Amino acid sequence: MRKIKVGILVSGRGSNMEAIIENSKKGNIDAEVAIVLSDNPDAPALEKAKKSGVEAMYIYPGEKKTYMTPDREEEYVRVLKEKGVELVCLAGFMRVLKKTFIQAFYGKIMNIHPSLLPSFPGLNAQKQAWDYGVKVSGCTVHFVDEGVDTGPIILQRCVPVLEDDTPETLAHRILKEEHKIYSEAIQLFAEGRLKVEGRRVRILPGK
Ligand code: GRF
Repeated sequence: MRKIKVGILVSGRGSNMEAIIENSKKGNIDAEVAIVLSDNPDAPALEKAKKSGVEAMYIYPGEKKTYMTPDREEEYVRVLKEKGVELVCLAGFMRVLKKTFIQAFYGKIMNIHPSLLPSFPGLNAQKQAWDYGVKVSGCTVHFVDEGVDTGPIILQRCVPVLEDDTPETLAHRILKEEHKIYSEAIQLFAEGRLKVEGRRVRILPGK
């Protein structure tokens, strides 16, 4: 099967990025990571990507803290398009994408979030869940729209909250599942099996 070209946007550690790169290299997914971009020049993810032979670069995101102005988004889009990217995966990218970016890759941007959305969007989702006292949390891969963690849901995985969990131990177990479902979602996309119908993402049968 043809491999789709994936661009990954990161701001920090990059463990989801690493899992995607590893799965692409092992041939577990029909995807090739064409480029990794970061808004943070010190993101450990940048070095990790380079070490595994994937091109990675910092692009200045502008002065705003939580989003990028249209000219900065255009620069990200330009580089991604130049690399032939067909799917953009946000993996711990700490900025909300705006119109310029979203329109350029409409329906082709995914994000991973460490809770069962729509519960606990935004920052520190695992701690939010733990503080609330839920018995089950998990993770979500969704398409990205202009909201914060609001786009149509592709896949979710449950993770039970154990009696002796701390926010950290819970986050650790959720992360392990994140690493699995992100690649599963990418593979479904690569196979052309994701059909968005309003808020619902229909998963079409495989061949
Ligand atoms: C993950 O928990 C992801 O769900 C969230 O940010 C974290 C990124 O971790 N969006 P990593 O950089 O992939 O290790």
